[in-house]
Amino acid sequence: MSHRVWCCLSLWLCLWLVLSLLTIRARAEFYSSVDSMQDLGQLELELLNATRSYLKAQQQEINLFRKFVEQLKQEHDMAMDLTNLDDYLGHPLHAFRLIKRLVYDWDALHAPLVENKPREEYRQVVDNLSKEVGFPDLSELQGAVKGVARLQRVYNFTASDLADGIINGFFYDSAMDWRECYEIGVQLFDLGEHQRSLEWLQVAFNLLRTNPEMDGDDNSHFMADIREYAALANFELGNPKRAGRLLEKVLQAEPTHPAQLIRNYLDHREGSRIDQQKRDPSWFSNYTRLCQGRALPERGGGSPLRCFLDGKRHAYFTLAPLQVEQVHLEPDINVYHGILTLDQIDSIFVEADKLQMTRSGVAGAGGTRTVLDLRVSQQTWLDYESPIMKSIARLVAYISGFDMAGAEPMQVANYGVGGQYEPHPDYFEVNLPTDFKGDRISTSMFYLSDVEQGGYTVFTKLNVFLPPIKGALVMWHNLHRSLDVDPRTYHAGCPVIVGSKRIGNIWMHSGHQEFRRPCNLTSDS
Ligand SMILES: *[C@@H]1O[C@H](CO)[C@@H](O)[C@H](O)[C@H]1NC(C)=O
Ligand SMILES: *[C@@H]1O[C@H](CO)[C@@H](O)[C@H](O)[C@H]1NC(C)=O
Ligand SMILES: *[C@@H]1O[C@H](CO)[C@@H](O)[C@H](O)[C@H]1NC(C)=O
Ligand SMILES: *[C@@H]1O[C@H](CO)[C@@H](O)[C@H](O)[C@H]1NC(C)=O
Ligand SMILES: *[C@@H]1O[C@H](CO)[C@@H](O)[C@H](O)[C@H]1NC(C)=O
Repeated sequence: MSHRVWCCLSLWLCLWLVLSLLTIRARAEFYSSVDSMQDLGQLELELLNATRSYLKAQQQEINLFRKFVEQLKQEHDMAMDLTNLDDYLGHPLHAFRLIKRLVYDWDALHAPLVENKPREEYRQVVDNLSKEVGFPDLSELQGAVKGVARLQRVYNFTASDLADGIINGFFYDSAMDWRECYEIGVQLFDLGEHQRSLEWLQVAFNLLRTNPEMDGDDNSHFMADIREYAALANFELGNPKRAGRLLEKVLQAEPTHPAQLIRNYLDHREGSRIDQQKRDPSWFSNYTRLCQGRALPERGGGSPLRCFLDGKRHAYFTLAPLQVEQVHLEPDINVYHGILTLDQIDSIFVEADKLQMTRSGVAGAGGTRTVLDLRVSQQTWLDYESPIMKSIARLVAYISGFDMAGAEPMQVANYGVGGQYEPHPDYFEVNLPTDFKGDRISTSMFYLSDVEQGGYTVFTKLNVFLPPIKGALVMWHNLHRSLDVDPRTYHAGCPVIVGSKRIGNIWMHSGHQEFRRPCNLTSDS
């Protein structure tokens, strides 16, 4: 891979320099606010804000009340000091004051105390937020934990590295505390990922043991909780003896712990169930290897793959030739670098945001909108009416040689952390009962973002991995010339490790392409 990138680099060094400078400048883009995670971040910010206002308002009220009460108490004390209560109240001004207090002052105090305006305001903010954004639920939490587990599975990250904030050899300021690790362990257990659950529980245990802020009692109580889950996970993994020993330790430390019940239960179930190691699918080792950026060495020496400038494909490219990088031959997969400018990419997101906004408006009117809906709406389909989409259509037509009459609208997709697509072909193998004639003959995939880590596109049968490069286009044919499907084009989107991945896909159907790519009856051509 690297020598190929290098050859393109040397051709277009200056252009790349300019491009990369622009990329740095374009980091803080407004359109990323459509991201559901960003919505959640905003939600928490507003909650924080509301809670602070609430506490401040409460504090102010309480200070007022306290002052009033202190004054009153002083007055009473004074009265007691001077004489007895009867004498005190015998004084006409004192009597007046007492009555005035009961008529006005206490009343002024009761009303806000009963009404508690700050609390009402706080409740309104929370109500509004849950209507407008929606709070994530337990299934969202499990989804997030699954994302972590997926990263571990595909990239072979250890729980202890992740807990330390070390991701793929890079250090992030994101170290976790024992409670977070424990929560991940518990969720993984509930998801049936027992081995990984155990790994996180072990990390939680170590963190708790070395936590200087914890006092002894709490400590042993939490340790019992961790050991309890570790025992269950061990049992599920077919280690009943180890499970028994852990429960024994729990009961030694906390004789009243419900661990006894668990032990009775496990005794009943002993040997009844062993966790079946899920067998990895056949594509899995190719997939993980390529996702990690490791291709097998090419057989047969020197690679015939080239990088070249192509100004002849269409008159459009005479002045600004295509920068073509061949990444595979037969089936051909080409990367066209620097196809879209940063401004063009911004314009695409402006179009996507317009749709997103109408959509969320519709959803908001019903009053209920969950984060799950947001996820779905992270896929948008853009037609070719707007000026930017017209130029996209022109580019795809000129580069592919196909007639855009057969093109589906462009699908703009956004993957968050852990987002992935397992290996799949883009063809359907049947003619669709839609407006589109024929199967998906080709795929044009635009990279609309760089991804800090992960998110490669990999072809599991072809030993090819492609890191996303903002502004580049990948193109390949899913069908042979005979229009038979080409299963070698199985491809996948690897989980995003750090960052956010945005792509635009245009699938071309074979129905309109009779004169563009004459079909050949031998299916292996
Ligand atoms: C935070 O609250 C204050 C008023 O309490 C408001 O003016 C400000 O806009 C709020 N900020 C955010 C991010 O909601
Ligand atoms: C909550 O929403 C209602 C109706 O949209 C609005 O009148 C009210 O001002 C909002 N309250 C807060 C605290 O944002
Ligand atoms: C995963 O990482 C461990 C060490 O952390 C290593 O021993 C093991 O070989 C790795 N597995 C793969 C498939 O890379
Ligand atoms: C894995 O990759 C190798 C080398 O590219 C390929 O020959 C093999 O068919 C692939 N296996 C699967 C199951 O895709
Ligand atoms: C079909 O493809 C084969 C192999 O590439 C070639 O020899 C043959 O001439 C082609 N036939 C037509 C009709 O294009």
